[in-house]
Amino acid sequence: MGFRFLKTYNFRNLKDAKIPLPARTIYLVGENGQGKSNFLEAIHLLCFGSSFRTKVDKLIITHEKKEMAIIGLLEKEQENVRINFKFSGKKQIEVNGKKIKDRKELLYNTPCILFCHEDIGFVKGSPDRKRWFMNQTIGLYDPLFIDDLRKYSHLLKMRNSALKEGKIDILSVIDIQLVPQALTIMEKRTKLMEEFQEPFSKVFSTISGFKEKVELEYIPSWKGVSTFDDGMKALEITKKRDLKFGISNSGPHRDNIGFKAEGRDFTKEASTGQLRLISLIMRVAQGNFYTGKVNKKPILLLDDVLLELDPMRRKKFISSLPEYEQAFFTFLPEENILNSRDDSVLVYNVTDGVIS
Ligand SMILES: Nc1ncnc2c1ncn2[C@@H]1O[C@H](COP(=O)(O)OP(=O)(O)OP(=O)(O)O)[C@@H](O)[C@H]1O
Ligand SMILES: [Mg+2]
Repeated sequence: MGFRFLKTYNFRNLKDAKIPLPARTIYLVGENGQGKSNFLEAIHLLCFGSSFRTKVDKLIITHEKKEMAIIGLLEKEQENVRINFKFSGKKQIEVNGKKIKDRKELLYNTPCILFCHEDIGFVKGSPDRKRWFMNQTIGLYDPLFIDDLRKYSHLLKMRNSALKEGKIDILSVIDIQLVPQALTIMEKRTKLMEEFQEPFSKVFSTISGFKEKVELEYIPSWKGVSTFDDGMKALEITKKRDLKFGISNSGPHRDNIGFKAEGRDFTKEASTGQLRLISLIMRVAQGNFYTGKVNKKPILLLDDVLLELDPMRRKKFISSLPEYEQAFFTFLPEENILNSRDDSVLVYNVTDGVIS
């Protein structure tokens, strides 16, 4: 199971082609700038309906062209699913010929876990990236959470406009709706971070080889808040400042994740390699956590991440990968991929947008 083929048309530097994918594990090997990550991006677009490299959809169209499309045939237990992603000024996604209204529908069709350089942001980046990790992990198994976030974000926007315009009377009406929504998000994040600790620690102890144990910590913006009244009080505390700056200074949109090693902030002292390793561990744990929750296997996309690991960790990392329907790895030609290769692996060379 997994994608049986991928057809691309005017997508980035990839030459228009139908690429058969008759294997569970696929390696894409090529020099820099040939189109390996673009290929992974195409699969990501079919799984998530969005790119992992840009928010601006028109950038994915081949230069000088006006429209693009990607089609993939996904083999599933019950039936095959044909996913068609098109962009020509507007994004359009079809599943078995039917237009989908919400990208959410796509996510549950083809769960996908991506490993890429930018993942280091989950460990060392802005709190925004850390929230994104929590949100994505919950969203992979709880479709309602995506709606929870949307509702909260809508109310937050309304609240910020009211703050900017100094409309105090409207503010209290919004707050009464915003607090329950905020509490739902916090509850789900709290539960996630409690449950996620175990798969994280398991993978951590297998792969890391660090002397100290690193533990995750959910750092909510509203500390100790668990009831409606607590939430209203928390808003009251920052209200003066909120009105002064025309922005909401507290709430789940300011939550964070901490990484603690023996009580200290691990991210302040860790080497770049260690930070990267932790971000990989987060992704492996995310995959394991997901399979444990829904009893389905994801598609894995691994963009260059093995390159940074020493041979021993590379081996451990590969053996710790979550069970998958299909996995795509990118490699540079000089990388020693043979160590991690068996006969069932399909190897494609990627040269100037041609996959052969
Ligand atoms: N919209 C576009 N139209 C045409 N070419 C594009 C477009 N967007 C990106 N490219 C080109 O695609 C090429 C391949 O990019 P990609 O990121 O897939 O390389 P890669 O094989 O993953 O390389 P690396 O090993 O450096 O990561 C780049 O040279 C880039 O200039
Ligand atoms: Mg690349």
